[in-house]
Amino acid sequence: MTILHDFDLTRHTTFHVPARAQWFAEYDNVDELIEILSDKRFSGMPRLHIGGGSNLLFTKPFEGLVLHSSMKKVKMEKLSDTRILVHAESGLNWDTFVRHTIAEGLYGLENLAYIPGETGASAVQNIGAYGVEAKDHIYTVDTLDTLTGDMRTFQADECAYAYRDSMFKHTNGRYIVTGVSYLLSRNPAFTLDYGPLKELASDPDLTAMKVYEKVVDIRRSKLPEPDELGSAGSFFKNPVVTAGKYAALKQTYPDMPHYDAPDGVKIPAGWLIEHAGLKGFRIGGAEVYPRQCLVIVNTGNATATDITSLYSHVQHTVRSKYGIDLHPEANII
Ligand code: EPU
Repeated sequence: MTILHDFDLTRHTTFHVPARAQWFAEYDNVDELIEILSDKRFSGMPRLHIGGGSNLLFTKPFEGLVLHSSMKKVKMEKLSDTRILVHAESGLNWDTFVRHTIAEGLYGLENLAYIPGETGASAVQNIGAYGVEAKDHIYTVDTLDTLTGDMRTFQADECAYAYRDSMFKHTNGRYIVTGVSYLLSRNPAFTLDYGPLKELASDPDLTAMKVYEKVVDIRRSKLPEPDELGSAGSFFKNPVVTAGKYAALKQTYPDMPHYDAPDGVKIPAGWLIEHAGLKGFRIGGAEVYPRQCLVIVNTGNATATDITSLYSHVQHTVRSKYGIDLHPEANII
């Protein structure tokens, strides 16, 4: 375990915006986590558990304890000849995990290729891309209940999964995710509805690896490389509007893309931002990424204030033009 005081978090966030934590603790197993949580130095202190830092923006130093898991073990359990449970510990890099499952001949996670972050966070954030969400394959989530000190395993249907949302985001950090079990299949079953993936459907020898590689190509063409250009991936969630509101907007913007959502009509935030004239718009070192406008990038020396000013400007402009509120997907601390 590692416990550090006045710790520089900059390298622990993909935005690469300077950030500090009063305390930072990293643990290699659950016993160490329990030991840290019972350490008197941290009692009553605000606590924040981070993963790969791919969805985080710190606007001021964090006066409290930042926790990080470095548990990375994977184990497999055969439920039947075709149904395999793969359990990954929380600190494992997500893309490493996806590639591991593909190498084991398993199908299910290939569309979720190359998403920055760690496996524990996948179950908190319900990450999603190209027609697949983590919840489609999550079986159980192992947690430490910080209130009782006991381990607790949740079935997927107890986690209140929704678009980029779960119960874990609404329980004030009570449950620390320690591991996630994904139910995957040995039988090929692909999700190829997303535009550029459709062309793969005619390949008689399609493999999970081919889908994985295609998704990596698409992501590389639209999204900034996390190691090269700081960002938090999509900064905003795609808004959902009522059918009535959508019908009214469609009169003015007949080309506006849209998707049916359980509670209305989902409209891509990137389209709204681009068509509000904000492509490439900058404040200080923060920029609306020209290739995908729902991403805000740090062009080199952005401060947290540059980013918050830019995102407020984007929200304000989109609200005035379309009457739609954009909500950050990124977690602003
Ligand atoms: N669009 C524009 N201009 C833009 C961006 C998008 O006109 O600048 C249009 C596109 O042409 C397309 C539509 O908006 O018609 C949707 O764009 P895209 O397919 O790129 O997906 P998205 O809705 O913008 C979401 C996720 C991404 C995920 C992709 C693919 C959210 C907030 N974002 O983006 O997730 O990779 O779908 O499934 O739901 C992330 O969460 O960090 C992330 C990158």
